[in-house]
Amino acid sequence: MKAVQFTIYGNPERVLAVREVAKPLPKNQEVLVKIRATAINDYDWSLVRGKPYLYRLLFGLFKPKVKIPGMELAGMVDAVGSDVTKFTVGEAVFGDISEYGFGTFAEYICIDANALEKKPVALGFDEASAVPHAFCLAIQALRDLGNIKKGQKILINGAGGGVGTFAVQLAKLEGCVVTGVDSGEKLEQMKAIGYDFVVDYKKTNFTKRGETYDLILDCKTNQYPWSYLRALSPNGKYVTIGGKPGGLIQLLFFGKILSLFSNKKLQIVSLKPNKDLDYFLELFSQKRVQIFIDGPYFLGDTPRLIQYFGEGKHQGKVVIGLGKAE
Ligand SMILES: NC(=O)c1ccc[n+]([C@@H]2O[C@H](COP(=O)([O-])OP(=O)(O)OC[C@H]3O[C@@H](n4cnc5c(N)ncnc54)[C@H](OP(=O)(O)O)[C@@H]3O)[C@@H](O)[C@H]2O)c1
Repeated sequence: MKAVQFTIYGNPERVLAVREVAKPLPKNQEVLVKIRATAINDYDWSLVRGKPYLYRLLFGLFKPKVKIPGMELAGMVDAVGSDVTKFTVGEAVFGDISEYGFGTFAEYICIDANALEKKPVALGFDEASAVPHAFCLAIQALRDLGNIKKGQKILINGAGGGVGTFAVQLAKLEGCVVTGVDSGEKLEQMKAIGYDFVVDYKKTNFTKRGETYDLILDCKTNQYPWSYLRALSPNGKYVTIGGKPGGLIQLLFFGKILSLFSNKKLQIVSLKPNKDLDYFLELFSQKRVQIFIDGPYFLGDTPRLIQYFGEGKHQGKVVIGLGKAE
């Protein structure tokens, strides 16, 4: 089978290559999935470059422990291990496998059956691969930590990427007024998908505009914690899903101290993979949520696409479709 592999950290276009490798065999609790689509995530960008360096504690200090990146998939069950009762051969599945490993930039993968959910026919493979990670981060940030309420004034920073494009739709379902912050070239498209107001972060720092919000969802924490306090209303909540490691560490400490003295809250999401896919499927079946993909592209394009993703040129989720002739 074909797989996108790397053995040293570095620039994606230099260290990644499509290679012919042995098709894996499922262990007792695993399923073999023929991958039909996969999506690129921030983890892939960090894993392949081994940066931020802190990540090397997880990924391997001097060289990567993982050989094939990729953590989201949609595909067909091709074989099942002896202990698997959740799926049968021929069923369509999708999921974020990051609790169990990496390796979706390939034609096949063996993975623990618990990493996957059944995919309905109405949800295409390309679209399904774009959902698990971004949708779960968006809903867990807005609902579980942000305690989103009807009609609130909300700001999403890093608003044109995978998480932002789901988060705005979830916030609009609650009748909220939503401002999106991202780079200038994405603002028109962001208005088209539902943002009420848009801000170019390269021209304006949203924490210095004098506007305050009931809830801020940040995909790109890169300022001091007290900057975010300025942009929160008196009982406002700031919830981040990611950003610069230094910024997140400051936020963790400052957030705890602040909660002793103030009604404002600063919090960090710890993703529970696939937890909210049932809710996604409910909204999808009622046509209340749309999936915005950039692609689908070919597996052979993966090295270039990881670079493209890292440079922030994409809108929505970057999807790689398999099974079509390249
Ligand atoms: N908390 C957890 O458990 C957990 C788990 C997994 C992943 N994550 C995090 O989730 C995040 C992924 O979100 P995503 O998939 O939506 O990312 P994404 O698709 O890369 O979107 C991020 C957007 O932010 C924009 N951006 C870049 N710099 C910015 C800045 N300074 N201010 C405002 N916007 C900026 C980017 O556009 P331009 O580059 O064009 O400006 C891009 O449109 C990552 O931070 C990742 O680390 C968290």
